[in-house]
Amino acid sequence: MKFFIDTANLTEIKEAQDLGVLDGVTTNPSLMAKEGITGEQNIIDHYKKICQVVDDNVSAEVISVDFKGMIEEGLKLAALDKKIVVKVPLIKEGIKATKYLTEKGIRVNCTLVFTAGQALLAAKAGAYLVSPFIGRLDDAGHNGADLIKQIVQIYRNYNYKTWVLAASIRHVPHIIQCAEAGSDVITAPFKALMGLLQHPLTDKGLAQFLADHEKVKQKF
Ligand code: E4P
Repeated sequence: MKFFIDTANLTEIKEAQDLGVLDGVTTNPSLMAKEGITGEQNIIDHYKKICQVVDDNVSAEVISVDFKGMIEEGLKLAALDKKIVVKVPLIKEGIKATKYLTEKGIRVNCTLVFTAGQALLAAKAGAYLVSPFIGRLDDAGHNGADLIKQIVQIYRNYNYKTWVLAASIRHVPHIIQCAEAGSDVITAPFKALMGLLQHPLTDKGLAQFLADHEKVKQKF
């Protein structure tokens, strides 16, 4: 399973990259705004900085909601760096833009996916990634992990090459549920990714090992 980090915060991206297990980054307009990055040039510069940190897979989202605007923005974003994956919302114009950009050799991430039907359309249009938002589904009283299972099964049935990227992850159990469901990729906030490291018995056990080692060291 591939691990992406869901943030536009460069410090977090660098720290996750340093761990050696990061495969990519997802951003969205809200995450960019959270970091105070506004204005076209600043946004472009920020994507370039992210691309300098990670090896591949930097999802950069278009703002336009019409086909012409989406492809103009998509072409511009893709030209910034080979690592860029153009992120488009799963709406009618987005599916058209996915097909167009994919045929131009540009990788597309179809975002804001909440149903298996939407995921099926994304795969038909040739999307490189499909992003079902499991946390938001859970928040609305549905079961996000069930949607991941459903999409994985459908893509398997027809051998679609689109990667399932479980998004809107809130915590460690979400990551484990997605791994069990066979998601190709998860994108998680820094805190959830680092949460994978934690267990109190690991800390307790390590403290005991080090204390025992100290005792023996003093004897010799
Ligand atoms: C995915 O690419 C999105 O950026 C993200 O996962 C949205 O998650 P949220 O529901 O926490 O905003």
